[in-house]
Amino acid sequence: MDDNGRWAQARGLDRIKGHHEGAESVREISKACREWGVEALTLYSFSTENWKRPADEVQGLMQLLKRYLKDERNELIDNNIRLRAVGQIDRLPIFVRKPLQAIMRDSDRPNVKMTLTLCLSYGGRADIVQAAQRIAKAAQAGQLKPEDLDEKAFGLHLGTAGLPDPDLLIRTSGELRLSNFLLWELAYAEIFVTDVAWPDFRRPQLGQAFASFGQRERRYGKTSAQLTEGT
Ligand code: IPE
Ligand code: MG
Repeated sequence: MDDNGRWAQARGLDRIKGHHEGAESVREISKACREWGVEALTLYSFSTENWKRPADEVQGLMQLLKRYLKDERNELIDNNIRLRAVGQIDRLPIFVRKPLQAIMRDSDRPNVKMTLTLCLSYGGRADIVQAAQRIAKAAQAGQLKPEDLDEKAFGLHLGTAGLPDPDLLIRTSGELRLSNFLLWELAYAEIFVTDVAWPDFRRPQLGQAFASFGQRERRYGKTSAQLTEGT
């Protein structure tokens, strides 16, 4: 979700206003995904690097998150959306952590239609390193043989364990980089980059991204002919 700050500045507004409009996009996109049958939506909301921003912007983002959680709690639960968070949750202020954990607990129900994951204080490399540490500890404790470790087992130690690998990565603001997002999980994702800023990314733009995705041929290393033959 990129370009909130510049979107606001280009309109002579405070950067935080861009984040507020971006939160509106989160609401609309979550709803659209849920209606269109998306199983999992994962939003890069705040990176480990974002802590380095000016204190008032960080504070504004945390307040916004608190408000989002308060306002969306019932909407998420009523729409059978399960909320999940990935990242260094213990670094978040208590006024965010508490409602976040409460919604995660209360929205984790058997009739869930979609999982909405917020990456908060998240970095892809840090998550992989953490997984490696957990695996090394398990091996040291004799609970895991190194030769038994495969990609599937490795993935179960990541913050995103249990979520399907993303089919589609959408990047707003036209930047052509991953910015440390889901480095392991995106291995085979289709990438859609749009010049649209995140506050302007709404249902029609999501529809365009899905239409583009629908035209891709996903070969996973095979040839086109193999795919049509089904081999
Ligand atoms: C995305 O917008 C939201 C967060 C990273 C929190 P930015 O804040 O990155 O906006 P720009 O890229 O500075 O315009
Ligand atoms: Mg940015």
